[in-house]
Amino acid sequence: MKYAAPDSLFLRACRREAVAQTPVWLMRQAGRYLPEYRSIREKLTFLELCTRSEVAAEVTAGTVRHLGVDAAIVFADILLPLVPMGLGLTYEKGDGPRVAAPLRTGGDVAKLPAFDVGERLGYVGETIRLTRGDLGTATPIIGFAGAPFTVASYAIEGGSSRNYVHVKTMMYRDPATWDALMRYVVDVTADYLNLQIAAGADAVQLFDSWVGCLSIGDYARYVQPHVARLVARITPGTPVILFGTATESLLEAERDTGASVIGFDWRVDLASTWERIGHDVAIQGNLDPVALFAGRDHVVEETRKVLAAAAGRPGHIFNLGHGILPETPVDNVLALVDAVHAYEHR
Ligand code: CP3
Repeated sequence: MKYAAPDSLFLRACRREAVAQTPVWLMRQAGRYLPEYRSIREKLTFLELCTRSEVAAEVTAGTVRHLGVDAAIVFADILLPLVPMGLGLTYEKGDGPRVAAPLRTGGDVAKLPAFDVGERLGYVGETIRLTRGDLGTATPIIGFAGAPFTVASYAIEGGSSRNYVHVKTMMYRDPATWDALMRYVVDVTADYLNLQIAAGADAVQLFDSWVGCLSIGDYARYVQPHVARLVARITPGTPVILFGTATESLLEAERDTGASVIGFDWRVDLASTWERIGHDVAIQGNLDPVALFAGRDHVVEETRKVLAAAAGRPGHIFNLGHGILPETPVDNVLALVDAVHAYEHR
């Protein structure tokens, strides 16, 4: 029982097949807004939690049971590959990920090590196997990785960034080094995602969270071809969700990477955006995660607006437009999931 049943709501929606109910899962569904998660994190650091597959699988599966969502996402992080890349990754309380040795020069990129993805990141595959054992075949499991731009942005900036000055400086001043870095990240990411699929992931999501800082011209020139090569290297038959924020001007180019599902944030209007990029691609989104801080009635109303915009068209996966925030009231998350499941398209 390696994979989920192919007729699950989520997998049907990935393939743009008709569904009786819109499937829903939430980016960052397992995290600090959940008291169970916070109590596990009192005993383990974030990296310990990710690498201890039994605990990570319990977090993954426990979250699905708690929320009643239609897919699990393996508990891991987009930055885990930076550890075997030798960049000195740490997670600091309060200010997020830090990279001790950020990449700035051609020399830095040339020194990136070749490593065996199975040996160094195999624990994520083990988390997927254990999650499948726990959840059985009813619930699809989503594997994931950062998309090349977003991974490179952390590797180059050394952490989160406002203007991506170091990243863009490398692109513009040293395009050969940028290209070499993209090729390296694509190689690692393809192996990493295929490892997750071999372990039982039914679909994979590429998080290109910060790519919206680019103009369409720069996206087309410096990023899109690399994402397209990555998508082409993912095990055939596996749906690929390509997600980004602030991507309004990039969506056609993202679609042209060959991804099967395009995820976008709340800044765009779902109905006209889907029309624009074409109903022959599936979409994922797009409720503002901050809507979950409103009263319950408002949460339900906003959830229904997203569903109404999708109009029951095959190929919509309900999600937030970005990850759940740490202070989110859990009851509102449960109300959202219920509202999606109760919705009837007329
Ligand atoms: O969705 C899930 O429940 C699965 C797990 C998951 C995590 N990170 C766990 C995590 C997923 C899918 C991610 C993706 C991720 N990681 C992204 C893309 C999504 C997005 O929000 O744009 C990014 C940019 C990262 C990088 C990252 N990891 C940052 C910026 C931070 C610190 C800030 C923050 O939001 O906490 C992390 C740490 C992290 N990853 C936590 C969790 C649960 C919090 C760690 C903790 O327990 O303190």
